[in-house]
Amino acid sequence: MASGKNAAVVTGSAGGLGAAFAEQLAKDGYSVAVVDIKDGTDTVERIRAAGGTAESFACDMTSPEAVEQLGKDVVTKLGVVDVLVNNAGRYDNCAFADMTYEIWRTAMALNLDGMFLACKAFAPGMRERGWGRIINIASNSTFLAPPGMAQYIASKSGSIGLTRALASELGADGVTVNAIAPGPVKTDQLRHAYARDFAGGDASGFEDFMTAMAQNQSIKRYATPEDVTGLVSFLASETSTMVTGQTIVCDGGWARV
Ligand SMILES: NC(=O)c1ccc[n+]([C@@H]2O[C@H](COP(=O)([O-])OP(=O)(O)OC[C@H]3O[C@@H](n4cnc5c(N)ncnc54)[C@H](O)[C@@H]3O)[C@@H](O)[C@H]2O)c1
Repeated sequence: MASGKNAAVVTGSAGGLGAAFAEQLAKDGYSVAVVDIKDGTDTVERIRAAGGTAESFACDMTSPEAVEQLGKDVVTKLGVVDVLVNNAGRYDNCAFADMTYEIWRTAMALNLDGMFLACKAFAPGMRERGWGRIINIASNSTFLAPPGMAQYIASKSGSIGLTRALASELGADGVTVNAIAPGPVKTDQLRHAYARDFAGGDASGFEDFMTAMAQNQSIKRYATPEDVTGLVSFLASETSTMVTGQTIVCDGGWARV
C-alpha cells in the first residue's frame, strides 16, 4: 500500500533539528504533529505561513501515560499517521567517574524510553494500514565514542539497536524503520552544551568551536539542521521502500562506518 500523505509526527520539534524536520515534512505534503515539552507554536506558525498544515501537541516523551494519550490526540486532530520521527533527545557532558544513576536514567528516559513509547503509540496504526515510516535520530557519537558522554552514547546506541529490531518485526507489514546519526549540528542544544560544559557559561566562542570541530570531517564546514532534512524526506518517502534497519551517518564524513 502507498502512503496517501497523511500525518507525520515529529517529537522535539519546537526548535533545533526537529523544527527543520517538521517544516520539511510539511513541504513534502504531510500534516505535521509538532510534539514537544516546550511550546511548539513558532514551528506551527512557520509551517502554516508556508501553506502547510500543523498542530502543536504538548507532551513529555518520558511519560508513558502522556505518550499513550498523544497517540490518540494526534489521530483525532490530524488523522492517521504515516511517519514518526523520534527526534526528542538530550545531551549532557559528564565523565563516567562523576556520573550518577540519575544522570544515566535521565538520558535513557528520553533518548531511548521515549523512542520506545512513541513506537508503541504509532506503530500499530501503521501496521494496520500496511504502510509506515519510523525514523529514529541517533548520533555519530556511537561510532566515534568520545569520552564524557557514556549515558548519551549508550542511549543513542540503544536507539540503533531498537531500529534494527523493529525493522525485523515491522517490515512484513510495510513499515520501515531507520536511524539517522548526525554529527555536530548547529542548534541551541549544542550552543548551550558548549557554553555549559566547555566555556564557563559563555557561548561567544560557539561559532569558532563548530568550525574547529568541522576540521575533523571530510567536508570542512559545520552542519545546520537543513543539512539533515533531505535524509528525513527520503526515508519518509515511497522511494525508500527497500531501505530498512539502517543507520545513515550524516556528519560530513567524520565517522566512516
Ligand atoms: N545538535 C547536534 O549536534 C546533534 C548531533 C547528533 C544528534 N543529535 C540529536 O538530534 C536530536 C535533536 O537535537 P537538537 O540539537 O535539535 O536539540 P534541541 O534541544 O534543539 O531540540 C530538542 C527538542 O526536544 C525537546 N524535548 C526535550 N525534552 C523533551 C521531553 N521530555 N519531551 C518532549 N520533548 C522534549 C526540547 O524541548 C527541544 O525542543 C536529539 O535527539 C539529539 O540527541 C543532535
